[in-house]
Amino acid sequence: MIEICDLSNVLKRNGNGCPVRVCGWVHKYRDQKNIQFITLRGGKGSTLGGMHGTSKVQVTIFKPVILKYQNILNQISIEACIDVVGKLNIDKRAPQGYEICCEEIVLIGKAESLKENVTEETARSIKCDKRHLYLRQDIPTMIMKIRHHLIKYMYEYLYKEGFYRIDPPQIIQQEVEGGSSLFKLKYFEKDAHLTQSSQLYSETMLATMGKVFADKDSFRAEKSMTRRHLAEFTHIEPEEAFLGCTSEAGFHKLLLRIEQFMIYVTTKLFEDEEAGPMIRALNPTFKPYTKSFKRMTYNEMIQFLKENNIYKDEEMKIYYKYGEDVPEKPEREMIDMIGEPVFLTNFPKTMKAFYMETDPNDTELTLSVDLLLPNVGEVVGGSMRLWRYDELMEGFKKEEMEIEKYQWYIDQRRYGSCPHGGFGIGTERLLMYITNADSVKECCLYPRFMGRCLP
Ligand code: 4AD
Repeated sequence: MIEICDLSNVLKRNGNGCPVRVCGWVHKYRDQKNIQFITLRGGKGSTLGGMHGTSKVQVTIFKPVILKYQNILNQISIEACIDVVGKLNIDKRAPQGYEICCEEIVLIGKAESLKENVTEETARSIKCDKRHLYLRQDIPTMIMKIRHHLIKYMYEYLYKEGFYRIDPPQIIQQEVEGGSSLFKLKYFEKDAHLTQSSQLYSETMLATMGKVFADKDSFRAEKSMTRRHLAEFTHIEPEEAFLGCTSEAGFHKLLLRIEQFMIYVTTKLFEDEEAGPMIRALNPTFKPYTKSFKRMTYNEMIQFLKENNIYKDEEMKIYYKYGEDVPEKPEREMIDMIGEPVFLTNFPKTMKAFYMETDPNDTELTLSVDLLLPNVGEVVGGSMRLWRYDELMEGFKKEEMEIEKYQWYIDQRRYGSCPHGGFGIGTERLLMYITNADSVKECCLYPRFMGRCLP
């Protein structure tokens, strides 16, 4: 048996009219008077038709075979799984430039006729209920295949740069990103919750591994229904020791690291034989990054919002003031106006997590960064970490946190601490940007968000 995506190679090797046998799913079915056409779908390969290595092939069934297999053909409908034997013929009219002229057909898995096919046009809530079927459509299939390659190139970059992959726990007892978005659970007799970020555990491995990254799901119980919020997302989090002799020098390196990472991943993805054409089909204007990103401090953002009449309260004409958190909508308006990636840096301490390093030029600020991309907003969040014992303890005090649960984390500062930093990428947000998807919910297999935990 041959995989559908290998048919073009088989044709080159064995020549026009060579015998083939393939199995797959009926993607489309056209019944004309004396001839029937099945678009047969396999797994591997580009989901676009009409190209080398595509995961689809046209099967053509002529009258004598229709008569012989009438009984089976009567039972075939969209999504049925079938086994086809025939001749592989060059035919310019077929979408792939070749087709299988069917000689024998076996029905492997019958498909009940769908009352209503789940397509792009189906209402969002039905698409969610029937996601297991919707995932068989072209667009979600393409997004899932691009996701595979995206993660592959993220790993490739990190391995190339000497990062070790580690697996921190996901059931934990301490907060990482604030208490308001914790998914609480009973852990035997104790209280625990699902992790918001693997970062704190990753930091503990720097003393033996130097550079590490975690690829775990993070969980946020945010009651947010925006197009960029999930309750469970795939969080790739690199963490690095000795980014610089000082935190400030390290911060500069951290930004370069994020830039390099994004340039490598988007370039490789765009050049990839399978992912590249699918990206161009989904997002024709997408271009890989080639140069460094624009930098803007939090302070400059507040100025920008004012100068460009992006209001906190449109009616009352009230602008955002320094120290205020800028929510998704104005942030999106700003980044869409700028139209290119922006490193937003040096957020005030009051807005950011307890572990972020102080900016030596202004102790009210942190050495922190968010990478904003047009059409999505924040895709990466990172910072240098408070690495000195006294300053970390100060941070805990300010936030009024229960330090008993963090003794293991504090120990990192007692036993050979060093300036270090890292960042976290929301895989679904980056994928949403690359594929021009409507929402992060389209960018993972079975999205989890407020009100949805099935299928
Ligand atoms: O900015 P965040 O909260 O940073 C952290 O968690 C750090 N501890 C990461 C680190 O330094 N190791 O989250 C990082 C990224 C965001 O930029 C965003 O892309 C994604 O995680 N993210 C979400 N993605 C989807 N749904 C949500 N609810 C998300 N919350 C964060």
